[in-house]
Amino acid sequence: MTRRTIADTRLLVTGANRGLGLALVEAALRRGAATVYAGMRTLEPHPDRRVVPVRLDVTDPTDVAAAAARIHHLDVLVNNAGVSLPDGLEDRRSLEDHLAVNLFGLLAVTTAFVPHLTRSRGSVVNVLSLGAIAPVPGLPSYAASKAAAASLTQSQRALLAGSGVSVHGVYPGPVDTDMVRALDIPKTPALQVAEAVLDGFEAGAEDIFPDPLSASATTGWDQGTVKTLERANLALFARPAVA
Ligand SMILES: NC(=O)c1ccc[n+]([C@@H]2O[C@H](COP(=O)([O-])OP(=O)(O)OC[C@H]3O[C@@H](n4cnc5c(N)ncnc54)[C@H](OP(=O)(O)O)[C@@H]3O)[C@@H](O)[C@H]2O)c1
Repeated sequence: MTRRTIADTRLLVTGANRGLGLALVEAALRRGAATVYAGMRTLEPHPDRRVVPVRLDVTDPTDVAAAAARIHHLDVLVNNAGVSLPDGLEDRRSLEDHLAVNLFGLLAVTTAFVPHLTRSRGSVVNVLSLGAIAPVPGLPSYAASKAAAASLTQSQRALLAGSGVSVHGVYPGPVDTDMVRALDIPKTPALQVAEAVLDGFEAGAEDIFPDPLSASATTGWDQGTVKTLERANLALFARPAVA
């Protein structure tokens, strides 16, 4: 796979006002990004003039279209915005709320920026979760939405490969942000995770496990069943049709 770099590139990070998104902005700036478009629901200034705040509720088609019209050049789209709320699958609404942001929001933003990324032969980085692979008790709707987004990531990878756009999935374990503030479990600092995400991206990894827990839990991933099947299906998909 082609190696990608952050230096001198133009990135859009969704959910960039706090948590892992803000850490990804900082990590990209440290690596010499030219411009970081910081997608957020409520605009907040950033002290670095390379950061351009962009109003972007990923569930709002008007925001998504306006962002895509305003940003002319983009090399890397980081779909980071996400929600996670506990539930017990009693109420279908909770699953719908998770899907609206974690699946359909990710899809809407990516679709809007595919023309930009095709022109730049750029990249999509989808922030998923280790919960996409194995649900955490108490967060079934979150896990289902992330599992769906992980599947979507594989499909996007296959669909966009012909356009020269690389698609990367990120599978973090617990990160020390508001999302898991109430949970008394070991967490990795957000900036450490963000740096590992960009390390993985720059190394050309399709699947990025950016913290000690996710890295240890997925030893052998690259030769495992999921990855082997994904590659086999991609080869099938890429095979010319028989007349
Ligand atoms: N923290 C973890 O342990 C962990 C683990 C694995 C994966 N992740 C993933 O990492 C990503 C970032 O999470 P985080 O830990 O940084 O969580 P966080 O601190 O709760 O931040 C979530 C971010 O997403 C934004 N967001 C939520 N709904 C949005 C919408 N409709 N449109 C645009 N932005 C929206 C929030 O904006 P507002 O400020 O406007 O609400 C905020 O910027 C998520 O995709 C999450 O699933 C987190």
